[in-house]
Amino acid sequence: MSGSATTDDPIALFEAWMAEAAVSEPSDPNAVCLATATPDGVPSARMVLLKGVDARGFVFYTNLESRKGGELAANPNAALCFHWKSLARSVRVEGAVEAVSDAEADAYYASRARTSRLGAWASKQSRPLESRFALEKAVAEYGLKYAIGEIPRPGFWSGFRVLPRRIELWRDMPFRLHERRVFHRVGDGWRIETLYP
Ligand SMILES: Cc1cc2nc3c(=O)[nH]c(=O)nc-3n(C[C@H](O)[C@H](O)[C@H](O)COP(=O)(O)O)c2cc1C
Repeated sequence: MSGSATTDDPIALFEAWMAEAAVSEPSDPNAVCLATATPDGVPSARMVLLKGVDARGFVFYTNLESRKGGELAANPNAALCFHWKSLARSVRVEGAVEAVSDAEADAYYASRARTSRLGAWASKQSRPLESRFALEKAVAEYGLKYAIGEIPRPGFWSGFRVLPRRIELWRDMPFRLHERRVFHRVGDGWRIETLYP
C-alpha cells in the first residue's frame, strides 16, 4: 500500500505509513511524542515507543508512577504525534486512555530483554536520582533477586491504550500546501474531512 492509498480506515492508513517508516527511518520509526495534562490543563510531552496498534487504539508502556503515569491517572486523556522526517509525514492521535489488560502487559513485558525487565524494576521513573551508581546498583540487586526463574512484571509498570477520537494524517506537499486528512470517530465508523494546511 502506498502513501496515497485510498481507504476510509485511518488505522489501516496508519499501519501502511508505519510500514513505510520502518523501511525509511534510520531508527525507532515507532517513536512518538505523547502529550498528557494535569486535571487543570497544564500539558507536558515526552517521547515513547508505540508497541501496538489495532482497531481499539495505540499502545505504549511505561512506569505508572512516572510523571506521565500520574497525569494519566488524574486526567485519562492523551495526544500522540508521530513525525517521520524521511517520509515528510505526520500522524496525530487524540483520545481517552485506558489501561491495557494485565495479560497484555505481561506478554509484552516478557518479550523485553532481561536487562530492560530489570531496568523497569530498578527505575523510579521521573523521581530524583542521587547518582548513576545508585541506578546501576539497583539493576544489579534486582539481577541477583531474579537470578533464577522468571522476572515478574512490576505492579507499577504497564501499558496504556489511546482510544482514538480523532486521527489526522498529514503529508508534505509542494509550497507548504500540505494535505491534512482528519478522521473523527462516530459510533463504529469515521467521519472524514480535510483541513486547510
Ligand atoms: C525515542 C524515545 C523513546 C522512549 N520510549 C519510552 C517508552 O516507551 N516508555 C517510557 O516510559 N519512556 C520512554 N522514553 C523516555 C521518555 O521520553 C521520558 O523520559 C520518560 O518516560 C519519563 O517521562 P515523564 O517524566 O514525563 O513520565 C523514550 C524516550 C525516547 C527519546
